[in-house]
Amino acid sequence: MTGMIAEGVAYHPGLLPATEQKALVADLHRVIAAAPFFTPQMPRTGAPFSVEMTNCGPLGWVSDRKGYRYQPTHPETGRRWPPIPERLLKIWRAVGAPGVPEACLINRYGEGAKMGLHQDRDEETFEAPVVSVSLGDTAVFRMGGTTRRGPTRSLRLASGDVIVFGGPARLMYHGIDRVLAGSSRLLPEGGRLNLTMRRVTPFPADEAG
Ligand code: SIN
Ligand code: FE2
Repeated sequence: MTGMIAEGVAYHPGLLPATEQKALVADLHRVIAAAPFFTPQMPRTGAPFSVEMTNCGPLGWVSDRKGYRYQPTHPETGRRWPPIPERLLKIWRAVGAPGVPEACLINRYGEGAKMGLHQDRDEETFEAPVVSVSLGDTAVFRMGGTTRRGPTRSLRLASGDVIVFGGPARLMYHGIDRVLAGSSRLLPEGGRLNLTMRRVTPFPADEAG
């Protein structure tokens, strides 16, 4: 049952059946073979993130001492990111997102990993929503408004859930408080994978907008 849980936020619990989740994990193994996980670092301090990351798509999001940015190549291999698997593009379309995404960030949460409250705002355009797919262990997702202060609520994102935030919620604060170890058996190694698809540059005039 899909629901608008806040203005601009659509939650699609269980959108991906178990067979689709398994097929997606197989697709991701191919992506990861071409673009291995790396440990991003905080701007300036260089402190490591607790999640590991990689990307697929023409652009990928990276973070290091120099800052947050999108770039066409992997920071360690120097190679272009592999394409976004068709199965993910299908999810983008299924939730009604326009055109095609340019970046898909893949976050891996191992034991104890979390992500502080932040906005996704390194894109040049906010006209498309962020489409976020959860696989593996359930996460406690925290969502707030578009300012850092103010009330937040938490939502458990289970394997196969998709959450979409766009329009008035495109710049909502969000993060992961914790991951519930052992809550899913999808990933043999345990933990959680999160995929966030985004449009980075404005749509050309002739593309869906
Ligand atoms: C993110 O905001 O990049 C990740 C969110 C999540 O892991 O669900
Ligand atoms: Fe984010």
